[in-house]
Amino acid sequence: MSKKPVIVFEGIEGSGKSYHISNVSKYLDKEKIDYIKIREPGGNLNSEKIRRLILNNKSNFNKYTDLLLYLASRSENISLLKKYFRKKIILIDRFIDSTIAYQHYGLGVDIKLINLINNHLLKGFKIDFTFLNIVNKTNMIKRLKLRKSLNRYDKFNNKFYSKVQNGFLKLSKKNRNKYQIVDSNLDINQNKSLIIRKIEKLI
Ligand code: TMP
Repeated sequence: MSKKPVIVFEGIEGSGKSYHISNVSKYLDKEKIDYIKIREPGGNLNSEKIRRLILNNKSNFNKYTDLLLYLASRSENISLLKKYFRKKIILIDRFIDSTIAYQHYGLGVDIKLINLINNHLLKGFKIDFTFLNIVNKTNMIKRLKLRKSLNRYDKFNNKFYSKVQNGFLKLSKKNRNKYQIVDSNLDINQNKSLIIRKIEKLI
């Protein structure tokens, strides 16, 4: 693929997603390849304000308010994403699959509502490839315990995260050639090179 791709990193808490995206950033920096990187929720000043509101432990929103806040945070990223679409490589730490996995598969929000708003926001913008980081239950519990400051969404039970991870896997199966599953229970260095090799092909 020669055009500048949009590459997303997905996965539940403790799956190694953020570690791998930052390793890809380091690789692109080293190779002096231009890119932009954002995270969701968050990504710019307004979106980061919304992130703080959603994830704050004192917040107590219902699942529809949460959905609308995640989408509001996305809405604030759209102009930046569309501006650089195909002009620069775009790396995104969580995107629409997270909304479907957490809000639909995890919390039971109607998927039609999510798709309707996402499709409206993302008209003209397309994801080229997704790295889906998965983790087994034992490692997930271990890694969650190691996290120092737990936010609102770090505190669901294991059953919830299993539902969310299964949701991510279902989404990946609908479009297998656009996903790479990264099994974080395997050797981390092996996963790092698997991802970098794929990135080299994508760019
Ligand atoms: P993070 O831990 O990767 O920074 O993500 C923050 C939390 O937000 C994580 O628990 C997943 C959740 N989330 C959703 O529930 N829906 C979404 O659409 C997004 C982008 C994130």
